[in-house]
Amino acid sequence: MTSGDRPNLRIDADRLWSSLMELAQIGGTEKGGVCRIALTDLDRQGRDLFVRWAKEAGCTIKVDKVGNVFARREGRDPSRPPIMTGSHLDTQPTGGKFDGAYGVMAGLEVLRVLHEANYVTEAPIEVAVWTNEEGCRFAPAMVASGVFGGAFDIDYALSRTDRDGVTFGDALQKIGYAGDEAVGGRKVGAFFEAHIEQGPILEREKKTIGVVTGAQGQRWYDIAWTGMESHAGTTPMEGRRDALVGAAELIVEARRIGSRPNGRSTVGVIDSLPQSRNTIPGRVSMTIDFRHPDDDELTTMDAEMRAAAADIAKRHGLEVKIDQIWYFPPTPFAKELVDSVRRAARQADHEHMDIVSGAGHDACYVARIAPTAMVFVPCKDGISHNEVEDATKADVGAGCQILLQAMVERANA
Ligand code: GLV
Ligand code: MN
Ligand code: MN
Repeated sequence: MTSGDRPNLRIDADRLWSSLMELAQIGGTEKGGVCRIALTDLDRQGRDLFVRWAKEAGCTIKVDKVGNVFARREGRDPSRPPIMTGSHLDTQPTGGKFDGAYGVMAGLEVLRVLHEANYVTEAPIEVAVWTNEEGCRFAPAMVASGVFGGAFDIDYALSRTDRDGVTFGDALQKIGYAGDEAVGGRKVGAFFEAHIEQGPILEREKKTIGVVTGAQGQRWYDIAWTGMESHAGTTPMEGRRDALVGAAELIVEARRIGSRPNGRSTVGVIDSLPQSRNTIPGRVSMTIDFRHPDDDELTTMDAEMRAAAADIAKRHGLEVKIDQIWYFPPTPFAKELVDSVRRAARQADHEHMDIVSGAGHDACYVARIAPTAMVFVPCKDGISHNEVEDATKADVGAGCQILLQAMVERANA
């Protein structure tokens, strides 16, 4: 069957759901979540399962130098740039079954439907698994789709280190996913990513589909405080140079700065040295994650945080070093593709609404080199980055059907 014939292609929500549940066993936690950290052996197992399933659906597999995996279903015209979808298989330490995995399994379901129907699109179809989206082991997030999208060079990605000093490149070699393919540098006809919303809006508004118009901006920081270690019992309170007090005050300031309309602010990591209860902490490192959909507001948040840190440092006799390790501007998606997602939702008669993504996604970097859009589905109580993260079979099936329609329409355009 070719694109001339237009059968009523339907995804199989039961098959999609059972694949998601099988994948979730790799790194499955007692509380029903998933811990499948980037470039660990569990990440390898998740990738191996995807590769096996994609081959069974008639695809060829390519892996690039930063470990991004591409499953390709050939089109009638192989010279046309592929219509691509995908997401990530790595999770947060206390992650759920859907963040990332859904976008990959939804792409796989599209491949399976086309394979079963023996349906050949004009342009090839590809499903990507992007490496290290979460950024919790190797910062920044979305680093490998970032290389694909031209935001970083390969050596930058390969040289990222985790908290134990292991490099991204070494970890990638170890799990056997350091491929030969050049990273990016090729034309992509369009990129779609299906994802759970990870927030409460769709559920609250009783909508099945979020038509994602873009993603908010982010700034990530590593902040180092230096004071002076000294005796807990003999050093007077006055004149202490307690680095942890500096960090504590900045945590409170960061929360205040993030508490503006549509702002977000999180301190997720704090390390204090020398880790002795009777020595005043002399060295503290901490992170800040700032987000805002408006770039000017994000710039103001940056300035306010720097001013607050300088003031705290002065008052407590501390040195503070602020290193912005990642800046990710607000990213609008391609109007044409956003329209096609909206049209597919309308055709399928699903309640839908436009929405801005609060999370970062690989789609945001792919958007630099290809027209891009995303499909959101609701998640239970808006909770994500948590083991209780949940979604319904009906909703993930609905999002996948929209993905299929939008991709096939685009591949035959
Ligand atoms: C990715 O999960 C993010 O932090 O937005
Ligand atoms: Mn994700
Ligand atoms: Mn995530």
